[in-house]
Amino acid sequence: MADFSIRPAHPADGGFLADMVVEAANWRAGSTRPRPAILADARHGGYVAGWQRPADRGVVAVDPDGRSIGATWFRLFGADRPSMGFVAAGVPELIIGVRPIWRAQGVGRALLRALADRARLEGYARLALSVEHGNFAHELYRSEGFTVVASSGDRDTMVRALR
Ligand SMILES: CC(C)(COP(=O)(O)OP(=O)(O)OC[C@H]1O[C@@H](n2cnc3c(N)ncnc32)[C@H](O)[C@@H]1OP(=O)(O)O)[C@@H](O)C(=O)NCCC(=O)NCCS
Repeated sequence: MADFSIRPAHPADGGFLADMVVEAANWRAGSTRPRPAILADARHGGYVAGWQRPADRGVVAVDPDGRSIGATWFRLFGADRPSMGFVAAGVPELIIGVRPIWRAQGVGRALLRALADRARLEGYARLALSVEHGNFAHELYRSEGFTVVASSGDRDTMVRALR
């Protein structure tokens, strides 16, 4: 088991969370879309712009030296906002990324579980997300209780009940 721990995300984590948005947008092998273009695109940058808003909650995985290695967090969107996994007002949407060198060592699953606990504590009934077809993260989400509720183009929207 890899040696890492998980802590709550803070306002100062905005830069790292933006790094993780870039990882999520460039999940496909060989994809090198530049960071400024990704963050300027509201569909991606909207997950982190203005971090940390009052209802934003997240968790960060850190290595034994305290360096951030992965994160997942959720944010509330409105139907009028261009998020990719919008389900309903009051259903927060998560995004996740783990630094490449730390992948496939249990960090992502541990982060998802910690975030679900946090969302439950906050009183949310559901968590939503958007995932592209072909991303193995789809299987990870399914194994953590998410099911596909909608599909559009090459993306699926998945939702998990928390209660
Ligand atoms: C998706 C991501 C967050 C998962 O984090 P991770 O730390 O690698 O995941 P874990 O190590 O907890 O692995 C979770 C499961 O996926 C499997 N898995 C890990 N890497 C895999 C790979 N490359 N291909 C297929 N399955 C893989 C693991 O075997 C594990 O299953 P198991 O528990 O049954 O063994 C991470 O790979 C990542 O940052 N990817 C790029 C960004 C991204 O795609 N974000 C999601 C956008 S929707």
